[in-house]
Amino acid sequence: MTRTQVGIVGAGPAGLLLSHLLHLRGIESVVLESRPRGHVEHRQRAGMLEQGTVDVLRAAGVGDRMDRVGLVHHGIELRFAGERHRIDFPSLAGGRAVMIYAQTEIVKDLVARRLADAGQVLFEAEALVLDGLTTGTPTIRYRHEGREHTLACDVIAACDGFHGLGRATLEALPEAGTHRFEREYPFAWLGILADVAPSCDELIYARHERGFALHSMRSATVSRLYLQVPPDAGLADWPDDRIWDELAARFEDGGGWELTHGPVTEKGITPMRSFVAAPMRHGRLFLAGDAAHIVPPTGAKGLNLAVADVTLLASALARWLRDGDETGIDGYSDTALRRVWRAEHFSHLMTTMLHVDPAADPFDHQLALSQLRYIVSSAAAAATVAENYVGLSVV
Ligand code: APR
Ligand code: PHB
Repeated sequence: MTRTQVGIVGAGPAGLLLSHLLHLRGIESVVLESRPRGHVEHRQRAGMLEQGTVDVLRAAGVGDRMDRVGLVHHGIELRFAGERHRIDFPSLAGGRAVMIYAQTEIVKDLVARRLADAGQVLFEAEALVLDGLTTGTPTIRYRHEGREHTLACDVIAACDGFHGLGRATLEALPEAGTHRFEREYPFAWLGILADVAPSCDELIYARHERGFALHSMRSATVSRLYLQVPPDAGLADWPDDRIWDELAARFEDGGGWELTHGPVTEKGITPMRSFVAAPMRHGRLFLAGDAAHIVPPTGAKGLNLAVADVTLLASALARWLRDGDETGIDGYSDTALRRVWRAEHFSHLMTTMLHVDPAADPFDHQLALSQLRYIVSSAAAAATVAENYVGLSVV
């Protein structure tokens, strides 16, 4: 048996940042990650950082590479019915902007910093059982290098994602009183990474009668694009040429704008769901990030919510473990969930407004077009999108 103050399951953005923020507050932790380091550092996912997330990473001393190579964006483009409209962030959202910097790069920066600080991050270490959650010494039983071990903690933070052990453990404990709130969507996203310069300076969100498309990017030479596909679509259905043709069709603006094609280096299909598990705490087990909530990626909130959760949790745990003050941990779940539900609503709104549900009746299609027209013609409506997109400081 080994011992630490905070046992963290999962070395995604949530678990790694929590470990680093606790270290900055003099709290020791051990991070257990079931996958190899290379897998975790190269798993393509999100890439849009709210101003608040940028501020947290800078304040924690892990924002230098982000500031060197990240792309600051001051707006997005909405495209629909052959029209193009820009939503300007600074004028609508108090001068704030967003940063394009892939979560893979944040993970690499955090792993490097934890290891440089002699932090304990164990890769290929799978947590098997979380026990003693309402005792003074919860434990994590895990498998590493072919043997089983037990880690005794003061606190366990489950940062182990949607399919992780943390929430599953709570859902198997009636006394934990975990409620699930969820919604499935009748479509998925096919995402590609391509070695080609982006065909735009800012992100383009397009609603076309053929479906949704998003043009994002990772750098001046790497594009990141997404297509709405049926929920049961398989990669075999989507050879590269078909992807590029469909993207070009959905971004068509009738004004000569062209999508530049290039070699596709990564391809994946992600289901679309909204999900919240509440409360985000039971005894000495705390949930953070995707372990507690999932948002459809249309609002680019997943990574930002994970950062917000662990920023709150690190402060609450430090106050308790260092100063004996329990107000932070007692208020963690309610405070985190207020921000989560704001992001759930915004992500749902962006998803239903920009995607074409094949089963929806024409009335819904007209509502979506009307909502888009309202946003691009009313400063008040545009401000709603802008301030949610750059991130609300929800308390
Ligand atoms: N034992 C150890 N590790 C585990 C276990 C387990 N039993 N189960 C899951 N994990 C690990 C996964 O391998 C993964 O690396 O937990 C990690 C969870 O990381 P993420 O899924 O990235 O979740 P989170 O850190 O909350 O990140 C949230 O960031 O990745 C982006 O946009 C994405 O919304 C997501 C956000
Ligand atoms: C991305 O760059 O991966 C990205 C950006 C904005 C989104 C979703 C994904 O809404």
